[in-house]
Amino acid sequence: MELLRIENLTKTIKKKKILDSISLTVNSGEIVGFLGPNGAGKTTTIKLVLGLFHITEGNISVCGHDITKDFENAMKNVGGIVENPDLYKRLTGRENLEYFASMHDGISSENIDGIVELVKMSGRIKDKVKTYSLGMCQRIGIAQALLHNPRLLVLDEPTNGLDPIGIKELRDMLKFLSKEADIGVFISSHLLSEMELMCDRIYIIDNGVIIGEKDIHQEEESVDDITYQYTFVTDNNTKLTAYFNALQYSSAVENGGVTVVLSRNEVPNIIASLVQEDIKIFAVNQKHRTLEQDFLSMTSGTKTQIR
Ligand SMILES: Nc1ncnc2c1ncn2[C@@H]1O[C@H](COP(=O)(O)OP(=O)(O)OP(=O)(O)O)[C@@H](O)[C@H]1O
Ligand SMILES: [Mg+2]
Repeated sequence: MELLRIENLTKTIKKKKILDSISLTVNSGEIVGFLGPNGAGKTTTIKLVLGLFHITEGNISVCGHDITKDFENAMKNVGGIVENPDLYKRLTGRENLEYFASMHDGISSENIDGIVELVKMSGRIKDKVKTYSLGMCQRIGIAQALLHNPRLLVLDEPTNGLDPIGIKELRDMLKFLSKEADIGVFISSHLLSEMELMCDRIYIIDNGVIIGEKDIHQEEESVDDITYQYTFVTDNNTKLTAYFNALQYSSAVENGGVTVVLSRNEVPNIIASLVQEDIKIFAVNQKHRTLEQDFLSMTSGTKTQIR
């Protein structure tokens, strides 16, 4: 089921286009990553989805409810945290959740217990928030976002400041929520490696524009179509380069051989014709073309992204 649909969303602040006609979807049971460098527009998008900002153009609907036309029903189905969870440090985790629960109708004490259990904070829930680690605060933040039982959970860089164990715990928790509770998760990050491990799909945003979408699982299935970087180590780099030029592949002499990007199923034919050409092949090394490379080739650069 489709939980979030963003269509041609544009946000202009003081005549500056922060988001330029972005479109994306999130389905139930799915963790969808929103990956982009600092200033790309992630927080802005998330604030719009949570109804904290005014839409300039385009539509957002949550569970089929347009957030402009049917704000209340849309908001009933979405919970989220923007930047950091806002907690009362002098209160306990439980008191914080009770306070937030009081802002919604019909959240019972048992509901709160269930959510505390879900985010695995039962052991520390009676302690004051000021004694919590960052990871524990994140858990309470997620619990808070889940209190009114939304179908869609929206999290803005929740792994910020977490150590690798904290990140793994968060990842396991979100996977549990998406797969067992059938919740859709929309999560932003600027860390690709983290997104690759956590998400089912990833949208890449740069300068307010969605520049790519990746289906993580699909890649695993159709191995033959994925492109890899291959280095052919042979006795004749010149001849090999000419061979690739003739095929209109761009190659480079590096890594002790000739490097070229090919899909896996092209390799056997190429090796066969190199043998025909009397080129001696000592090795063909395959380097996985990671999402990182795709990301870098899609974004304008690596360091100078901030507008
Ligand atoms: N209230 C505002 N007024 C003016 N410009 C804003 C405002 N909020 C955001 N921006 C600008 O919009 C752009 C996108 O900001 P946003 O916070 O959405 O990026 P982000 O992807 O969340 O970045 P980060 O990874 O640093 O959190 C930035 O250029 C930012 O300066
Ligand atoms: Mg941000």
